[in-house]
Amino acid sequence: MKREKRRTAVVTGGATGIGEAITMKLSNEGFNVVVADLNKEKGLEISQKTDSQSGDIAFCETDVTNQKSIKNLLDFSFSNFDNLNILINNAGVAGAKGWEHESVSREEDWEASWKVNVLGLINVTTEFLPELQNNNDSRIVNIASVSGRQGRPSLPHYSSTKAAVINFTKSLDKRLKNNDITINTVCPGLLWTPMWEQVGLKYSNTQEKYKGFNAREVFDDMVQGSIPLGREQTPQDVANLVYFFTSPESAGFSGQAVNVDGGFFLN
Ligand SMILES: NC(=O)c1ccc[n+]([C@@H]2O[C@H](COP(=O)([O-])OP(=O)(O)OC[C@H]3O[C@@H](n4cnc5c(N)ncnc54)[C@H](O)[C@@H]3O)[C@@H](O)[C@H]2O)c1
Repeated sequence: MKREKRRTAVVTGGATGIGEAITMKLSNEGFNVVVADLNKEKGLEISQKTDSQSGDIAFCETDVTNQKSIKNLLDFSFSNFDNLNILINNAGVAGAKGWEHESVSREEDWEASWKVNVLGLINVTTEFLPELQNNNDSRIVNIASVSGRQGRPSLPHYSSTKAAVINFTKSLDKRLKNNDITINTVCPGLLWTPMWEQVGLKYSNTQEKYKGFNAREVFDDMVQGSIPLGREQTPQDVANLVYFFTSPESAGFSGQAVNVDGGFFLN
């Protein structure tokens, strides 16, 4: 049975970290949300987190690197909800299994990160675009990274995927011109999430300066050393900007990439 008619958002990687905060923000603001994630346990957990005021959350186990799984996600979204207005491409990985122990990017790190962060994002967007174009006020928000702006010597495979996401967003925006649909990129800085816990491990495993630090200590040191605002950014900070990009007030923005990084990178 279909749920109550509200605007509907699909959030890839919506079960943990930044994606979880986006899911909760959009649901609290009254959207129905489809969480599309590999992580079944967390996905089912988050789908229980709504109350009577918020939109529904439905979990669809999804692998954005698998075309069949993407098609299933589209069918699932329509069998649960009446409409489809918003796509948030957030799913991402920082490398292949074991990347946090390596000081140099391996071929499998390039492969895994490009498959999920770039091809997965493009394939989900391509599959959903015709449906989004059926509505007048659809929105696509892609999650890239400040690493995609300036590069990151320790994670070149990852940084390059995020540069590709920023550029894909601009290219698609130009292709979609004259359609009533906006597409923007959000570039987070340093946020404490399950992914950053792994990044912290990588630094402590591979960099002399961080030998003996735990992941959180590495993170705190980097925040202190590089964020002019003097505090880490949170998944909620990112979710707030994503929400803005889904709102009618953001109708004048498209093709943009905006940092949520406390002044880390200025561009
Ligand atoms: N944490 C940071 O500091 C930071 C900074 C810049 C950008 N980002 C980006 O923000 C996004 C979210 O990162 P996070 O820090 O919350 O990481 P996270 O690891 O907590 O969350 C990523 C989510 O994506 C899901 N996922 C991974 N591969 C998938 C696949 N093939 N199909 C479907 N789902 C998949 C995971 O299960 C997980 O729930 C990523 O794109 C990441 O690159 C994070």
